[in-house]
Amino acid sequence: MPVVTCPQDFRAIARRRVPRAIFDYVDGGSYDELTLAANRRDLDAIRLRQRVMVDVSERRTECRVAGAECSMPVVLAPTGLAGLVHARGEILAAQAAEAAGVPFCLSTVSICSMEEVAAATTKPFWFQLYFMKDRDFVAQLIARAEKIGCSALVLTVDLPVTGQRHRDIRNGLSVPPRLTLPTLLDLLTKPGWGLRMLAGRRWNFGNLVGHIPKQPAGTSMAQWISGQFEPSMGWADVAWIKSQWKGPLVIKGVTDPDDARAALDAGADSIVVSNHGGRQLDGGPSSIAALPAVVKAVGGRADILVDGAIRGGHDVLKALALGAKATMMGRAFLYGLGAQGRAGVAKVLELTRKELDVAMALTGTNDVTAAGPHTLFQDSGL
Ligand SMILES: Cc1cc2nc3c(=O)[nH]c(=O)nc-3n(C[C@H](O)[C@H](O)[C@H](O)COP(=O)(O)O)c2cc1C
Repeated sequence: MPVVTCPQDFRAIARRRVPRAIFDYVDGGSYDELTLAANRRDLDAIRLRQRVMVDVSERRTECRVAGAECSMPVVLAPTGLAGLVHARGEILAAQAAEAAGVPFCLSTVSICSMEEVAAATTKPFWFQLYFMKDRDFVAQLIARAEKIGCSALVLTVDLPVTGQRHRDIRNGLSVPPRLTLPTLLDLLTKPGWGLRMLAGRRWNFGNLVGHIPKQPAGTSMAQWISGQFEPSMGWADVAWIKSQWKGPLVIKGVTDPDDARAALDAGADSIVVSNHGGRQLDGGPSSIAALPAVVKAVGGRADILVDGAIRGGHDVLKALALGAKATMMGRAFLYGLGAQGRAGVAKVLELTRKELDVAMALTGTNDVTAAGPHTLFQDSGL
């Protein structure tokens, strides 16, 4: 087993263990992957301010986000098809998140259903909603999430249509997954994955079983989404969602201050500054670059989370220094999941916590909630 020292180490392991079409679906972004690259590059360009001779013998990473007590400001982001990255993937990730004391957010398009995840966990998790064309079904999804005790509803607003992902087209990623000769040959080199999937006997969208008509063979992911998701969704629809859901409402997928103000007016309790991990508008800003203007526009009236290339504790501290209350982590936990299942996700979270703790100590930050502009090195322009 290769030595893992940081969450990113799991990427190479996952690449060897997960079928290529699934790995690329996780790893890739839309079009030229410019925004995907910018998410990472802009985080790398931020410098933390080193402080010395501060008593940092007692440090606290705990915080509260969207009503949830968190052991650190990290939430596992909603990711569709996580149950194809590893058999029972959503259950394993939710269990790892629960053990680590951080919220897990289940995607509408998960493989394991929300009821299955609830049955395998003891703490409430968050449910992410895509606004689908069948409004009665959206109401049913919300009612199910309430029934199983989900503690926050995360409405994703940045996917009225899908950004094209070249890799998915090249790999023939389809709904349901299709076995072509190249995918079959690739599968033969990943027997562990295949055997676990066969034992798990789940290949479809757990939350949508029975509601989505069977797709013709070879329906691409993008075609499927355009058939199901509602592209006319607007802020007025949020009022309807609020009439169905009484708990905390998180609006995910905002990068513009005007949109952030509109989200607040529509009744959002929290906002996730996100470009969907560089998987939607290519050429848009990195989420970390978009964060400060959104923080300013919101002016403390809602909690702000940010995601996009969060890979460890330094990234978390930078995001907090720029005004986020917490971060969401997508690919980093999926690589851990693909590499080692639940243990991999647990390790990603543990490494992130340790890195955050050290970064706090070296910036003289005793309480994670006290991070702010003073935590950043003000660039001298050299
Ligand atoms: C494989 C994958 C699937 C995703 N599926 C969803 C989804 O179903 N719903 C959603 O709101 N966001 C989805 N996202 C976006 C994530 O919630 C999150 O915004 C993004 O992954 C953050 O960037 P990072 O992966 O660089 O951490 C997905 C991202 C990935 C990588």
